[in-house]
Amino acid sequence: MSTDFPPHFLWGASTSAHQTEGNNTASDLWALENSPHSPLGERSGDACDSLHHWQEDLDLVAELGLSAYRFSIEWARIEPVAGHYSRAMLAHYRRVIEGCLSRGISPVVTLHHFTSPLWLRAGGGWTQDEAPARFGAYVEAVRPYLDGVDWVCTINEPNMLAIVAAIAANGAAGSAPAHLPEPDPRVSAALIRAHHTARDVLARTPGLKTGWTVANQPVHTLPGAEEVARAWRAAREDTFLQAAADDDFVGVQAYTRTVVGPEGPIAPGEDARRTLTGWEFYPGALEDAVRHTAALLPGVPLLVTENGIATGDDEERIEYTRGALEGLRRAVADGADVRGYLHWSLLDNYEWGSYGPTFGLASVDPLTFERRLKPSARWYGEIARAHTSAP
Ligand code: NOJ
Repeated sequence: MSTDFPPHFLWGASTSAHQTEGNNTASDLWALENSPHSPLGERSGDACDSLHHWQEDLDLVAELGLSAYRFSIEWARIEPVAGHYSRAMLAHYRRVIEGCLSRGISPVVTLHHFTSPLWLRAGGGWTQDEAPARFGAYVEAVRPYLDGVDWVCTINEPNMLAIVAAIAANGAAGSAPAHLPEPDPRVSAALIRAHHTARDVLARTPGLKTGWTVANQPVHTLPGAEEVARAWRAAREDTFLQAAADDDFVGVQAYTRTVVGPEGPIAPGEDARRTLTGWEFYPGALEDAVRHTAALLPGVPLLVTENGIATGDDEERIEYTRGALEGLRRAVADGADVRGYLHWSLLDNYEWGSYGPTFGLASVDPLTFERRLKPSARWYGEIARAHTSAP
């Protein structure tokens, strides 16, 4: 059988620290979740307790025959107090990296996945002048522990971080994809500076591939809306993609699409098929995002660092992922330089305010933390082993 993906294509799964580790007590989000006026429904609490069950997580990845695992290092754990780095936590993440390597799994390490130490927030957040340098100092503290790591994502979805900052500033409610406001320009600028600072720090370690991961919200343009749609996407994505023009790779993260008409984005109709996040079921998002990113950044390799679906119906997860992978295969066949695909997520985890939207290839018992692979995980493992999008 001919293989549809390049020989060294990575097949993996993704998670992030706050969503899986549990008790991220020195972080800004923990403080928000536990404040009396929290806008978030549920608290993260123990999450999947991956802080203690991480070996089981890696065993799942290995059992499925996957070659890559993306997880994040939590800045708030490494530097719970400004300027004081926790050796114990640096050693912990080193063990996780070694756990990947000893299982033949390539670790894809994210250094910032939405959450920051509370002290950063207390001092004014990303817009204070020294924030990018503070991030750079944290990255420098982590750098010696990254031996054997090939792929480092500096900041996850900076565009969403800056959009959330705009929502907070405007007091706007809801985050339905069709209604995302423009990113807060001051936060965007700070994040771009932080990314470039981190990239310079990481360049001191030869062999590390450094990039960041951008939320790609493909736009379906209705007749007469070409200019509105172009501007909509440019403001929310392209600025952040263009900041990756010299990077070693860029991470593509796609789930659904936005439909834009002459008056702006249009919410999916009542009869639209939706997932548990309320997003439109649209597996074609990945192909569009990959083609868009490849066209915008010629010469920059792509890594799909997230793609998946929140559903309680595991057959639907297979249907969605099959569609997404078929689209990815077409984009690769047409020349997109994609180095791997990492499914979001390995585990059902904390979806920023709720445990309701289940994205996992494995479920997690909230009391015993027992992990159980779902049939979709086995199906995905077969694809990874066969190196194709076919089954
Ligand atoms: C993007 C984020 O990086 C991740 O944290 C989130 O859970 C998924 N998308 C799904 O919303």
